[in-house]
Amino acid sequence: MKKLLLIWLCTCLCITVTACSGATNGSETENIISESSSSEISSSESNSEDSRQSENTPDISVTDPETITEPTPDETGTGSHILVAYFSLAGEQYEVGVIEKGNTEIVAEMIADATGADMFKIESTEEYPTTYDGLLDISRKEEDDPPEIADTVDNMDDYDTIFIGYPIWWGDTPTIIKVFLQSYDFSGKTIIPFCTHAGSGLSGTDRTIGELCPDSTIGNGLDVRGSTAQEDPESAKNSVTEWLEDNGY
Ligand SMILES: Cc1cc2nc3c(=O)[nH]c(=O)nc-3n(C[C@H](O)[C@H](O)[C@H](O)COP(=O)(O)O)c2cc1C
Repeated sequence: MKKLLLIWLCTCLCITVTACSGATNGSETENIISESSSSEISSSESNSEDSRQSENTPDISVTDPETITEPTPDETGTGSHILVAYFSLAGEQYEVGVIEKGNTEIVAEMIADATGADMFKIESTEEYPTTYDGLLDISRKEEDDPPEIADTVDNMDDYDTIFIGYPIWWGDTPTIIKVFLQSYDFSGKTIIPFCTHAGSGLSGTDRTIGELCPDSTIGNGLDVRGSTAQEDPESAKNSVTEWLEDNGY
């Protein structure tokens, strides 16, 4: 009888222990499933060496320094604080015949190359004539009927120095340059003029720019003969380099 009672007691004890341990294992199983599925996700994203290590490693979220991505710099620009804005026309030009790239554009590229500046080509919404006579004609009409600029510099605030380039037209800046200078607030910025020409030099255009932008610092200007930029770029480049050095670049 004692033996029977002992067997019955043992049986009851086994059933109770099994029942209790079953509840505990249920919640642990849930945890294991979620851990293993998260480790599966992370191992599928990691390389094979990492996934081999994670088999015996607790699932602790530690960011691998190599996977930290640096914040991307300003998406709209290159990070440069210098802008080369210029107006220049290909086609038929004085002294150089029909050219594929404008004289001023050649100089603008030299400046941007040397300084790491961003470039902005000032263009009209209306196409310019490709003949010299056509340009003489339209340039006169523009004085009374200023052209509209096709594009804008959206991040002008990013720039503290603006090199502004243009051909000399009638001893002055083309009207489109005046339109450009009146389209932005250049207060506190440095504006450095450069031009190409057929003998007139800067022709006082640096002063004109100073009058249009009275709250800007106007740097020493550069003039390069159009034919030199087009036909003797090495000589033009030497002038650009020397002038940039004089201006502290
Ligand atoms: C309408 C017009 C007027 C010009 N007036 C002058 C001038 O007064 N003095 C001068 O030296 N060159 C003058 N030029 C020549 C240009 O300044 C020169 O060819 C310049 O390099 C052209 O530059 P681009 O090819 O970048 O437009 C004139 C050219 C044009 C088309």
